[in-house]
Amino acid sequence: MYKILKAEELADKIFLMDVEAPRVARHCEPGQFVIVKMDEKGERIPLTICDYDREKGTITIVFQIVGASTEKMADLKEGDYFRDFTGPLGCASEFVHEDIETLKNKKMLFVAGGVGAAPVYPQVKWLHEHGIDADVIVGSKTKDLLILEDEMKAVAGNLYVCTDDGSYGHSGMVTSMVEKLVKEEGKKYDVCVAIGPMIMMKFTCLMTKELGIPTIVSMNPIMVDGTGMCGACRLHVGDEIKFACVDGPEFDGHLVNFDEAMKRQMMYKTQEGRAMLKLQE
Ligand code: FES
Repeated sequence: MYKILKAEELADKIFLMDVEAPRVARHCEPGQFVIVKMDEKGERIPLTICDYDREKGTITIVFQIVGASTEKMADLKEGDYFRDFTGPLGCASEFVHEDIETLKNKKMLFVAGGVGAAPVYPQVKWLHEHGIDADVIVGSKTKDLLILEDEMKAVAGNLYVCTDDGSYGHSGMVTSMVEKLVKEEGKKYDVCVAIGPMIMMKFTCLMTKELGIPTIVSMNPIMVDGTGMCGACRLHVGDEIKFACVDGPEFDGHLVNFDEAMKRQMMYKTQEGRAMLKLQE
């Protein structure tokens, strides 16, 4: 059993929890994820690791209500428990294994859309702790849905905030900010890391392709076992079939077939709708 030490609503339908999971905290690296289960028969929910404290033995997760299981999860309070908290799963971000001196010469741009700020945060924090300050763009639909702004500000070289409706920061999508930084402000980037909804990652990749910036994305398809056995999370990356849970979740964004991935993500919408109705009965 894994105790919830803190539960907080960050924005409408977006929650943060600190969970006691010393083994995961000891071994995890930026880019990895966990699969949680609320009870024995509960759905397995994959969540990226937003932060970790090796000394305290805690993991911070951030999730958005997207269906019946996350709706139920949002009801958990401080002092409640998760039945399972499996991880760390997946591969760590590539830069974790790179030579620090080589990394220091790389100009990195992170682009976070919506809850994508959660998996971006530990990556930018890790770089900051190793003396590398990356530029970060964080975007949300409106000011109210913006999360982790202060945390990100503390670890980013430069932070650029965008809202789709113009209620805060730059008015427009994250893609327009990427274009502005490169085309108008003459910034040069060696690599971009884009994490957020698939549609946002797709359009960021189209933009960075045009600008000639290699781009890494973190894929969040449907997952079941998280160990490469069930095939639920399969994706086309170039000519190859990859499993997001064991080969990823990070991939070359210019090679990912986003249209196919988005179609697969919609596959269980009917069942998900039924589960939501059942929960409301
Ligand atoms: Fe089953 Fe990846 S979740 S193969």
